[in-house]
Amino acid sequence: MGWSKERLEEVARTRLGGAKLIVVANREPYIHHYKNGEVEWIRPAGGLTTALDPVMRACGGVWVAHGSGDADVQAADASGRVGVPPDDPSYVLRRVWLGKDDEEGYYYGFANSMLWPLCHQVFARPVFDPNHWDKYKKVNETFARAVLEEAADGPALVFVQDYHFALVPRLLKAARPDLVVAQFWHIPWPSAEKFLVCPWAKELLDGMLGNDLIGFHTQGDCNNFLECVDRAVECRIDRERFAVQRGGHDTAVKPFPISVDPALADEYLGDDWAARAAAVRKRHRLGDRALLVGVDRVDYTKGIPERLRGVDRLLHKHPELKGQFHFVQIGAPSRTHIPAYRDLTEEVNGLAEQINWTHGDDGWQPVVFLNEHHGPEDIFALYRTAAGCVVSSLHDGMNLVAKEFVTARGDDRGVLVLSKFTGAARELRDAVLINPFDVEETADGLYTALTMPAPEQERRMRRMRAQVDDHNIFRWAGTLLSEVGKRVPDPLPAPGAEDEEPEPGRSEQAMAERIATANYLTAMHLASAGL
Ligand code: F6P
Repeated sequence: MGWSKERLEEVARTRLGGAKLIVVANREPYIHHYKNGEVEWIRPAGGLTTALDPVMRACGGVWVAHGSGDADVQAADASGRVGVPPDDPSYVLRRVWLGKDDEEGYYYGFANSMLWPLCHQVFARPVFDPNHWDKYKKVNETFARAVLEEAADGPALVFVQDYHFALVPRLLKAARPDLVVAQFWHIPWPSAEKFLVCPWAKELLDGMLGNDLIGFHTQGDCNNFLECVDRAVECRIDRERFAVQRGGHDTAVKPFPISVDPALADEYLGDDWAARAAAVRKRHRLGDRALLVGVDRVDYTKGIPERLRGVDRLLHKHPELKGQFHFVQIGAPSRTHIPAYRDLTEEVNGLAEQINWTHGDDGWQPVVFLNEHHGPEDIFALYRTAAGCVVSSLHDGMNLVAKEFVTARGDDRGVLVLSKFTGAARELRDAVLINPFDVEETADGLYTALTMPAPEQERRMRRMRAQVDDHNIFRWAGTLLSEVGKRVPDPLPAPGAEDEEPEPGRSEQAMAERIATANYLTAMHLASAGL
């Protein structure tokens, strides 16, 4: 049986046995901000929120995140809670407020100037700063406290996201051994040689071993993690069950390749995607030329300069393509407080200008760099109208842009040019695979995308669409929750076992939880509508 939203709902209902689902992630799925004096909301760029929001919409529960929007306080209640999605709430977002110093040390510092480069093999030197470490510990404690408040009324499964919260699992288990805790690490895990240079490696590993289950995208990441634990921590590694045994507690370590909700493509495209694509073409003077698109946060792991060098090389090798296509790069500003990210934006601007100067003329500019946030409606319209999508990450845990592009191509057309160094390349074998460090291979990949015959595009796209349809976000969440749900004591009967009597207290409690959440969401919805 395939995985659907309905099947995931069933798993959440039966496997969680009434336990509340609490997700902890630094990034919130909806950000409120002021625009011309009015409060508006946006969905942030980034794979994590794209992937987890459909899961939370299906399962319900609470998402604990940093409240980062300038109108977030205004939109939430006194405890930082707000029902989301804002236009049709189905779960609760609990915002945690952080001071600038804490955000600087924990998010920009420890998480994104140390762990981010440490875990990605992109030759950026991690910053090891004891002050960042202090803030990281402090903010992990702040988030653990918020989770404990949310879990105060009964059993809960806490699903921690990413490298921002390596210490949260241990803090939760120490305070509430009955909580079931799982963590998904959305970025790669490096080799032991690389990770163990970190002065706080042992503390990070100890924090993570508070989990009952740790998920990575690939088996390679799991192996690297187990190797680090083996070298740094006193414990027993069960290599058959892929588990760490320590102090009477087991932590399972398994791969769960993340994905997207394919049905969202139709929602975002709507009936009028062609009109939106035409508006984008008109706004940027793209005419009806072929488009290659890139959609990324402006991040040095994404290989944006490398793909621009590929465009430059392509135009040198194939001058007959001049005036025939545009390369459109949507680059959502990201982490611009960190100098390396500001430098990168400057580098991309400079390269775009240089390529346009070298190859373009008054009527045609090959590179269009749109350095601003775009909503999914415009992004999907662009995916659908493009000849190809280029994902040239230098190293990437998965990369959901690749999978989103595939879901947008209900017409079975379009070519995906995909870096070999992404998790997605293991699944999307019909993409044109490139080594982004190799400028010739990148240029040739772009050429293939612009010239591939329609029947071959269709053959490849159909297979990639089938892969993403089947290996969707509901499979990711469903298999993960089923695995960790084994640790939730006394689950409700599995589907098909309806004739067994459910334990009365449990189902009543589950129902009471759901009613309390529904009442809260209704109250928030009415309040936000001014009623
Ligand atoms: O997967 C890595 C990650 O940090 C995710 O948390 C998120 O999807 C993306 O990168 C965006 O990063 P940020 O939340 O720092 O903008």
